[in-house]
Amino acid sequence: MPSKAVPESAERYGSVLDQLLEGFQVLDRRWRYLYVNDAVVAQARRTRAELLDRSMLELYPGIEQTPLFAVLERCMRERVSAEFVNHFTYPDGQRAWFELRIRPVPEGLVMLSMDITDRKALEERVRQSQRLDAAGRMAAGLAHDFGNLLTAIRGSVALARRRKPDAPVRDDLDLALQATARAEALVEQLMDFCRRRDVDPRVLSPADRVRDFADLLGRAIGRQYALRLELGPSPAIRIDGGAFEQMLLNFVVNAAEAGPDGGPITIATGDVLFEGEAHFGPITLPPGRYAALTVSDAGSGMTAAVAEHIFEPFFTTKGDAHGTGLGLSTCYGIVRQAAGAIAVCSEPGQGTAFTVYLPAAD
Ligand SMILES: Nc1ncnc2c1ncn2[C@@H]1O[C@H](COP(=O)(O)OP(=O)(O)O)[C@@H](O)[C@H]1O
Ligand SMILES: [Mg+2]
Repeated sequence: MPSKAVPESAERYGSVLDQLLEGFQVLDRRWRYLYVNDAVVAQARRTRAELLDRSMLELYPGIEQTPLFAVLERCMRERVSAEFVNHFTYPDGQRAWFELRIRPVPEGLVMLSMDITDRKALEERVRQSQRLDAAGRMAAGLAHDFGNLLTAIRGSVALARRRKPDAPVRDDLDLALQATARAEALVEQLMDFCRRRDVDPRVLSPADRVRDFADLLGRAIGRQYALRLELGPSPAIRIDGGAFEQMLLNFVVNAAEAGPDGGPITIATGDVLFEGEAHFGPITLPPGRYAALTVSDAGSGMTAAVAEHIFEPFFTTKGDAHGTGLGLSTCYGIVRQAAGAIAVCSEPGQGTAFTVYLPAAD
């Protein structure tokens, strides 16, 4: 039960405050919790009774030594507001981030607390992928410079060897040449790897490409899945071959993960003519001929609320341990790069079909 010192409005609007995502707590001048809404109870992982009328100092031993408490104390003493991002570790070792807004009130302080742990994790993943990107670019640049240096070294060594063909250093020069050749091969490999990030659009037939890739696809998801191919005639498209396969793989892996075990998963190709503009969410495709590629499954399907977010990077319903949330956002990027669009058709329990429209190359 809220204590008597609770501001009247908080008591009256308690049920409203319990709807907030933000924690809403009132502390008296002796650091006792006068009021906590449901979000605070959840964030603190305590019961309401454990919090109310108890002092923060008693509940969190050692808090006096933290930077957070220094801020709270200043707000209390000087009657000023503050904002603070608090990194918190639960007793079980789990870490969380809270964004706190602190305001002085006659009773003491009111504090709004927002759990921003997910956002922090997301920022970290974005930073990480940017670092990877930067590392890739750097490696490509280094490999290129290094390759030029090696060419110069090999030239000089070869020249020295030719000038003094019988000198006692000849064996050493031969070894140097061999090592240079090995280094050049390594640089070549590194450049190949980095170059794979660049797109190299070529004209290809979707049906042929699917047929060639189906065997690998089957291996990727496990032989127990029935992969059906319905490869109708479709126009040639201009797209990077590796990207096309990557996209197909992402769709098929998702289809397999949506269950039921064994599939079936169908990949179909076809030919579509849009007489007028065709709209797919925010994307508008101009009229014309398109190749259609459909990957469909008889799996769990998804709700409209989920479907709305599936192309967002890092959006996953599979939990952090299983999903990356990067499969469909990658597909989206690949399809946009090729001036196409993706349509989704899904019902919970009824399976899902993704159809990609890519403009005919001619
Ligand atoms: N074939 C499918 N059936 C049902 N849900 C799907 C399907 N494909 C994608 N989804 C939904 O879209 C989300 C995002 O997919 P994706 O970007 O590949 O990330 P991830 O597979 O790592 O979760 C999935 O978590 C899932 O909720
Ligand atoms: Mg996926």
